[in-house]
Amino acid sequence: MSSKAILQLDNQQIELPIIEGSESEKAVDIQSLRDKTGFITLDSGFKNSGATTSKITFLDGEVGVLRYRGYPIEELAEKSTFIEVAYLLIYGELPTKLQLETFARAITRHTLIHEDMKRFYEAYPSKAHPMGVVASVTCSLSTFYPESQNPAKQKEEMELTIIRLLAKFSTIAAWAYKNSVGHPAMYPRNELNYSENFLYMMFSMPTEDYVIDPVIVNALDKLLILHADHEQNCSTSTVRMVGSSQANLYASISAGICALWGPLHGGANQSVIEMLDTINTDGGNVEKFINKAKDKNDPFRLMGFGHRVYKNFDPRATLIKDACDKLLNKLGVNDPILDIAKKLEETALSDPYFIERKLYPNVDFYSGIIYRAMGIPTEMFTVMFALGRLPGWIAQWKEMIENKEPIARPRQIFVGHPKRSYVNIAHRS
Ligand code: CMC
Repeated sequence: MSSKAILQLDNQQIELPIIEGSESEKAVDIQSLRDKTGFITLDSGFKNSGATTSKITFLDGEVGVLRYRGYPIEELAEKSTFIEVAYLLIYGELPTKLQLETFARAITRHTLIHEDMKRFYEAYPSKAHPMGVVASVTCSLSTFYPESQNPAKQKEEMELTIIRLLAKFSTIAAWAYKNSVGHPAMYPRNELNYSENFLYMMFSMPTEDYVIDPVIVNALDKLLILHADHEQNCSTSTVRMVGSSQANLYASISAGICALWGPLHGGANQSVIEMLDTINTDGGNVEKFINKAKDKNDPFRLMGFGHRVYKNFDPRATLIKDACDKLLNKLGVNDPILDIAKKLEETALSDPYFIERKLYPNVDFYSGIIYRAMGIPTEMFTVMFALGRLPGWIAQWKEMIENKEPIARPRQIFVGHPKRSYVNIAHRS
């Protein structure tokens, strides 16, 4: 393979370097293109453009491979814990026993949020979507820890900011739920591990003891691992882009939370359950909705289906479907929408429309059914995605800062009016 690409533009021929990744992915490095030729490249939606090199996550969508720092997602989901995976993503290696204990203890000790922040929750309308609450409270952390705003921060300051965010985010998320149902906020408990603590803050009440079900804890931990990173997706690219202006970590992650909220990204998990409920209420006619999804005059899309990079299967969806079956069996939950989801998947996967376009169930297709079995309300689903994705966002932000990447600033091709003269209002038609 040549290390150069030859580009012919009009009468000019230029050489552009070829970059090769550690898994043999190849890119034409166009950084010198404009200087040499005056041309830029145009790639709306970044369907074909790499924004960075990264050592964090490898994904091969053609064959359904996903690895964090080289470790297959299947192995991590089976053998690791969410906190260990967070360490792996952020620091690059699996922790030693001591490193893991120190990391977990630091997170446990920072879970409390400033008492003044409790007042924010009182000000939101009771029907506020928890993603809006979580995004704004996360950004507000920067006002309580102003040292996080220093772009030239020391390594220790950066570490503390990361630990604070990892620790406080689960409290912020659980309190958004408590506020939405009018229940008192429950303070974190230091004897509990990360997932136990989150469930405790979500579901315990001051009036009675809360028994944490280990089956639910394990399922939650696995789900969080499966969501922990996914290379340069919309929200992660947003975090890196905002962070590239040297905005602080809390602001950058808050922007990522907002990007995740959309129904084409993390918001799909809420939309999937709403769609399955609609099909169920409508009588369960799966074919009718498959036809709607295929109809180009109908805005309906099969939510939880399709992916920009997976063109074979989404390994996370395979693991989640399996976990979903197991959890519902163990809990003795019989949710009719699970049958609808399976029928929908089966029908779509044998339909030429979906086969030709390589549309498969994605991570969001079955995750909502698990969340629902855990007692998590639909509006909290995307917050659960954010809880899982947090270490990935942090790792990507840290990598971008450590690589000293330049401010992200795409170009454009202007297609509006050429220069024209101002027309006085009296002379406008
Ligand atoms: N239902 C029906 N048709 C679809 C769907 C769908 N869910 N997804 C894609 N298509 C069709 C689309 O209409 C287009 O058809 P045509 O070539 O005839 O115009 C073709 O498939 C290619 O789709 P696209 O929109 O160009 O693909 P994209 O890579 O720009 O979009 C996507 C990817 C995930 C936004 C899209 O598949 C989608 O909207 N899926 C539903 C929302 C969803 O589940 N999102 C969660 C993604 S996974 C979680 C995460 O974000 O990480």
